[in-house]
Amino acid sequence: TQEMIEQAKAVLRRNDRGSYTVPTHGLYPFQWNWDSALSALGFAHFDEARAWTEIETLLAHQWEDGMVPHIIFHELDDGYFPGPDVWSTGRKVPTSGITQPPVAGFAARRIFDRAEDKALAAEKARALLPRIHAWHQWFFANRDPQGTGLVAIIHPWESGRDNSVDWDAAFERVPTDGVLPFTRRDTSHANPAHRPTDEQYKRYIWLVQKFRSLGWDNSKLHDASPFQIVDPGFNAILIRSCADLADLADTLGETTIAAQSRALADKGIAAMESLWSDAQGQYLCHDRVVDALVESPSIGGILAAFAPIPQNRAKAISARISVLAENCTFLVPSHDPTAPEFDGLRYWRGPVWLIVNYMISDGLEHCGETAMADRINTDCLRLIEKSGFAEYYDPITAEPCGGDQFTWTAAMVIEILK
Ligand code: DGY
Repeated sequence: TQEMIEQAKAVLRRNDRGSYTVPTHGLYPFQWNWDSALSALGFAHFDEARAWTEIETLLAHQWEDGMVPHIIFHELDDGYFPGPDVWSTGRKVPTSGITQPPVAGFAARRIFDRAEDKALAAEKARALLPRIHAWHQWFFANRDPQGTGLVAIIHPWESGRDNSVDWDAAFERVPTDGVLPFTRRDTSHANPAHRPTDEQYKRYIWLVQKFRSLGWDNSKLHDASPFQIVDPGFNAILIRSCADLADLADTLGETTIAAQSRALADKGIAAMESLWSDAQGQYLCHDRVVDALVESPSIGGILAAFAPIPQNRAKAISARISVLAENCTFLVPSHDPTAPEFDGLRYWRGPVWLIVNYMISDGLEHCGETAMADRINTDCLRLIEKSGFAEYYDPITAEPCGGDQFTWTAAMVIEILK
């Protein structure tokens, strides 16, 4: 155990660039939003100041409208596509123009709760609180213009689950004409069989060009996007972060933020019910453009357990994971292994991701589903033992996929073992 923790710490140190960490050398040479916030949890176990710095650096690049971008291009590196020139967001320190799952609120609260240096934690949390709150408010103002209580992502990269089967049908509506020629870089760092297809990349870039043509004006992007998906996993993270931020604000005596955050979380939880499917035994995505649920049994609807969902829903999700377990060796596959679209190696179309496992396990634990929560954590450690600190793993063979020496994978190992 101690040896595994030491190895995990070595991964974090190796990817540490001083005030931020890169997800992995080569494939992802900048700061990524949710990678950073989750990696901070790992640092917090051995260097609390460094953990706070990670989140501070992320929030230091928040846009004036409240958005926190998904990539911050701290240093030039032409080994990544699409780089700052493609995004052209016009920032002094270049950033991308879309966002990512808002785990920072959850992470800040957890690091605060566990802190040994209480004075430092109070100072850092107090400074971060209004910024994270502004980001949450940005979501509801710009990605929920009808006030449903749930937000849409407008690009698959925002979900973090880039090539999930969930987006396939909606992606048919995203054209590829007018996409400027480009060269992918990801496939020179990682096995192309583990990555999205060229066809998907053209659509990713079409959306970037579209948003860029609108000057990255968030008051326009949602309605202009042919891709608007309400992802239960993404919303669960936002709702959980709002609820956690409310608790943190209460502790710090920030009553206005506490009340506003709690109201957002409560409204979100109630609205999540509209995504539940009895037939699939889990939550589903909602395609806002055609106003229909997406019948795709992927991990987004299971990650929903990270939010404070009702007990009966958590129980049903636990049962759903038991069914998935009958068809794989390691929980939790990012897509149902019995579905025709399942691909155990290809990014979010089947592989297991430790960060998602961690969030599902944490949510189930909260709801009293402790046996399943423990089982998921055990599978995480079995994967590490067999295949090291990979980006993701085949849920049947444990084959390590994508990048290696991966920061957030290592951070989750420290979280599970400590
Ligand atoms: C990538 O480049 O694969 C990232 O997931 C996009 O953020």
